[in-house]
Amino acid sequence: MDVVSYKGGINEYEGDCLVFFVPEGDFSVLDLLREDNKKILKRIIEAENFKGEKDKLLKIPLGDKVKSVYLVGVGKKESVDEEIYRRASAIGVRQMKKDKYRRGLFIGVDKERAVVEGVLLGNYEFDKYKTKKDNENKKGVEEVGLYEGDEENIRLGKIFAEAQIYARNLVNEPGNVINPVTLSEIAKKLAEEKGLECKVYDEKDIQEMGMLALYSVGKGSSTPPRFIHIIYKPEKPKKKIVFVGKGLTFDSGGLNIKPGDYMRTMKIDKSGACAVLGIMKAVAELKPDVEVHGLIGAAENMPGGSAYRPDDIIRAKNGKTIEIDNTDAEGRVTLADVLSYASDLKPDLIIDMATLTGACMVALGEYTAGLFSNDDELARSLEEASRKTGERIWRLPLDDERLRKKIKSNVADVVNSGGRYGGAITAAMFLQEFVGEGIKWAHLDIAGPAYSKEDFFYYQKGATGFGVRLCLEYLLSNT
Ligand code: BES
Ligand code: MN
Ligand code: ZN
Repeated sequence: MDVVSYKGGINEYEGDCLVFFVPEGDFSVLDLLREDNKKILKRIIEAENFKGEKDKLLKIPLGDKVKSVYLVGVGKKESVDEEIYRRASAIGVRQMKKDKYRRGLFIGVDKERAVVEGVLLGNYEFDKYKTKKDNENKKGVEEVGLYEGDEENIRLGKIFAEAQIYARNLVNEPGNVINPVTLSEIAKKLAEEKGLECKVYDEKDIQEMGMLALYSVGKGSSTPPRFIHIIYKPEKPKKKIVFVGKGLTFDSGGLNIKPGDYMRTMKIDKSGACAVLGIMKAVAELKPDVEVHGLIGAAENMPGGSAYRPDDIIRAKNGKTIEIDNTDAEGRVTLADVLSYASDLKPDLIIDMATLTGACMVALGEYTAGLFSNDDELARSLEEASRKTGERIWRLPLDDERLRKKIKSNVADVVNSGGRYGGAITAAMFLQEFVGEGIKWAHLDIAGPAYSKEDFFYYQKGATGFGVRLCLEYLLSNT
């Protein structure tokens, strides 16, 4: 499907429908219509008592060149923001899909980037494994035109949305398709296509580099772990930023095996990694003046005969020792090495994304990511970016020294589980142990929002691609 700018007249449009974004009580956008059509519309709007309320759709058959007009409410004019446009656009495109319309013209758009994102993300579907599609002759929506849409904003919207869709597609792939080895091949292919540098380290390299924490988590699986490093380097970079993603291609829990209900959906434990790949794809297209590194520790947490065990003591890349209390707290163990490696790159800042703890979902619910940072300005900038992209985040503390004692070990430097209470915080504190002194760092616990149980806004049941646009927005507005 494509989104394009449409510069012709509205009354001459030849597609299937016209979609108007209508602020509450303000129908002035309809003045663009031919008088007779406008009259018909006004009559129906009155009869239906449609006011332009947020998220409401009114469909009016026209039987003209175009078959229907949709009016999508965007609520009070003063409070219309990007997120409202994103949702309204998804409502529009989903109605088109339902009506089997191919082409539509969206009118009243003044935030093109958000509209393009809403259209593309709202239209998304993961049906590649259905040999019989839900609707056999369904071709789907082919083109959305934005009336007098700004070309540059449309370009940006496409890059942002397509990066998020790229991440969704990868996360939705199951563990029998994406494992650490195939994930590393996907990363290589992406890098090749986009002109990025990509280094993949195998299980031998990983051990030689001293990344025994990542290695240990991966060794219970018959598919060995991989460490992936992708680099975008412009001529004269102003900054160096590292994005780190948790890349558990499947998390069975290991020897501390998860009960069936909890193991279900654990293919999404690679969401952070896939977000990093999506970000790198977009970075290659956006070409910012920043050096950007993407790091992924890919492993499968399985209870095989050579699996790591509770009680094991492992030396991480930075020399710190980790006592294993619970093999299901594996993400932080893999990230220990990846964050150490990231710190060795001496970047200006590190942002990691990880489906790290169920505790974060208990704290914040499924729709909000936990934000942790050792730097207030970085945290504030991420919160600012989050308001623009609609990806909810909420900062949690790292300064509770009594809570920090919970990850102290009797036999090693740290233990990989701090127990139930404050579980998202102690996990973040554990990560902090592996971030180099003086490096700005933010951790996003995306366990909740990485996956959706149902369709809502511009999300479908399944992977959401959370974090991709957030990081890109941060990158573009802070460099
Ligand atoms: N991948 C899980 C966290 C998770 C849970 C992500 C639900 C998405 C949805 C993580 O590896 C895990 O198992 N965490 C444990 C930690 C505990 C053993 C200390 C958890 O949250 O229960
Ligand atoms: Mn786990
Ligand atoms: Zn996990």
